[in-house]
Amino acid sequence: MTDVDLDHHGDAELAPGLVDLAVNVRGGTPPAWLKAVLHEALEAVATYPDAGPARAAVAAAHGRDPAGVLLTAGAAETFVLLARALRPRRAVLVHPSFTEPEAALRAAGHPVERLLLEAPAYRLDPAAVPDDADLVVLGNPTNPTSVLHPAAAVAALARPGRVLVVDEAFADTVPGEPESLAARTDLPGLLVVRSLTKTWGLAGLRVGYALGPAPLVAALAAHQPHWPVATPALAALAACTTPAARAEAEAAARELAVHRAALLAVLPPGVEVEGDPRSSFVLLRVPDGDPVRQELRRRGWAVRRGDTFPGLSPDHLRVAVRDPATSRAFADTLSDVLTAVRTPEEIH
Ligand SMILES: Cc1ncc(COP(=O)(O)O)c(C=O)c1O
Repeated sequence: MTDVDLDHHGDAELAPGLVDLAVNVRGGTPPAWLKAVLHEALEAVATYPDAGPARAAVAAAHGRDPAGVLLTAGAAETFVLLARALRPRRAVLVHPSFTEPEAALRAAGHPVERLLLEAPAYRLDPAAVPDDADLVVLGNPTNPTSVLHPAAAVAALARPGRVLVVDEAFADTVPGEPESLAARTDLPGLLVVRSLTKTWGLAGLRVGYALGPAPLVAALAAHQPHWPVATPALAALAACTTPAARAEAEAAARELAVHRAALLAVLPPGVEVEGDPRSSFVLLRVPDGDPVRQELRRRGWAVRRGDTFPGLSPDHLRVAVRDPATSRAFADTLSDVLTAVRTPEEIH
């Protein structure tokens, strides 16, 4: 048991008829060409999957050796594998952050410590991580704050005798991926976790990968079942790592930045934006967050509650970046809702 529900995720906020600002999967995805790849892959499902070509494609995309690539059923699988393969003496989780790493470590019986970054900037100070932590986990960019830590600050956490896990599930939402460590093979114990879920709209396929030293990758793979990644997911991995697909993802990331600016520009007074948002969602702080979220829901808008993230409160709401027309409609509703839920004393 913990103080917050670590198993709560944005999909639990959805219901038929609600506009989805709770789950950060890119709208309009997967693209038609990717659906065609998946359909074609179904022709080959009578045989067991061959992960070789997909592993080679991912390795080539990141300039790494295939032995340093672990293909997974989504980024979430990596956290379970870490919990099974490692026996950390001192695991430090940087929060507020995606909660599955902590949930997996706790489920495996490992003690965990939280390092809470301070609102509203949520800046990472590498010196705040205890020297003797032998497992450190953080996200970059971070869900739910949308903060992008400098690569140098994250890299400073790597050292011999420590596994440093950097969850880069949202890295491809940032144009040029300037702070990604995915290509770094010089940092001891670094494991970079990646996902196809967000940019490519493949949440239901379960497909991702991790990049790290070959011995660590082998230790994690030893806890996977045989054939852990299905043939259509392997086809998606190969297809989404081609230069053309990467260029498409880059264009989507650039458009996202424009759409995020449009959302920030229309937010009504009384709403605070926390951090310096760099990903496909923004973290907002509003007064009376719980009634506001429920009233938004009643009016057709699903946003992600903040209070199930360690370090956040009911006044925190995470909102996905959508097209500017949707953002404007949301901001108008939020403005009305903020007025509606204010108590008479607050208004006078
Ligand atoms: C930061 C972060 N990492 C990983 C995941 C899980 O990704 P996947 O669908 O690849 O398991 C999520 C999903 O919400 C996430 O927000």
